[in-house]
Amino acid sequence: MAGRWKNDLNWSDVTPEAAYLSRRSLMRGAGALAMATAASPALASLGAAPSAYSTDAEPNTWEEITSYNNFYEFGTGKEDPAQNAGQLTTDPWAVTIDGLVDKPGAYDFADIMSGVALEERIYRLRCVEAWSMVVPWVGFELADLLIRAGVQPGAKYIAFETLYRPEEMPGQRFPILEWPYVEGLRLDEAMHPLTILATGLYDRPMPNQNGAPLRLVVPWKYGFKSIKSIVRITATAEEPPTSWNRSAPHEYGFYANVNPTVDHPRWSQATERRIGGGLFSRRQETLMFNGYGDAVASLYDGMDLAQKF
Ligand code: MTE
Repeated sequence: MAGRWKNDLNWSDVTPEAAYLSRRSLMRGAGALAMATAASPALASLGAAPSAYSTDAEPNTWEEITSYNNFYEFGTGKEDPAQNAGQLTTDPWAVTIDGLVDKPGAYDFADIMSGVALEERIYRLRCVEAWSMVVPWVGFELADLLIRAGVQPGAKYIAFETLYRPEEMPGQRFPILEWPYVEGLRLDEAMHPLTILATGLYDRPMPNQNGAPLRLVVPWKYGFKSIKSIVRITATAEEPPTSWNRSAPHEYGFYANVNPTVDHPRWSQATERRIGGGLFSRRQETLMFNGYGDAVASLYDGMDLAQKF
């Protein structure tokens, strides 16, 4: 792991030569942006391979996952995103990769997708509001993209930004948060194999309300870290600002690791309500790092997690 992000792998090293050559022509015109050959969100199966990183917990239903959402760009109610996100244009879509990388540019979504190995990752999702789901995401490791972009040795963090388009995102017409929504990870968190960019769920393209066409998923952190509808990924030396920390610094930290022993100032984080569990189902114990401690606890060795919350 440690050496993976060093500047010793190129875009071409991780993709077959034919794919690389055709991509190069696209990339030469990278400044010209998205020419809209993006994989169209048809209902066809994405053909994702299963993964050893998946939980064997029972996934929530498609209906539950796509009708109970947080996506404040479309409203603050849980049903607002499903109602309002249909108007979002996700094709063409480009993601700018910049900052401390060897190959900065604005990459078309299809370009990002060509050559990636899609996997199904069934992950627990724990929202800071103390509800949870189990979601069968489809995606690829963020590390793969960062390696292709060539993260430079001076980079210590990866910053992310959601689309800003108030014409299509009605929530952005109100100062609910400072727009666009932004998030960030430490570089080792971003490179961790559990950290994925998801492009679908239930083997189908990502519904808009869940963050189409491309959203982050970091399963050991509270859901607000998993930023949706990403248009910019920046490698940086400084800890980047994050939307919820900006909005309420005493309530939401940069790290936001799921931690049942550190309560939110206004509620306990010891237990959670599993969506779909039924009105009378018991709350479940919340697990440290959302149950992913074996894989990620060592990232935080020596850190005071009550201080760095
Ligand atoms: N990303 C953006 N851009 N805007 C948001 O409001 N909400 C976050 C996160 N990503 C949010 C976002 C929160 S609080 C959660 S819990 C998850 O998305 C919810 O993801 P889901 O709706 O797919 O379950």
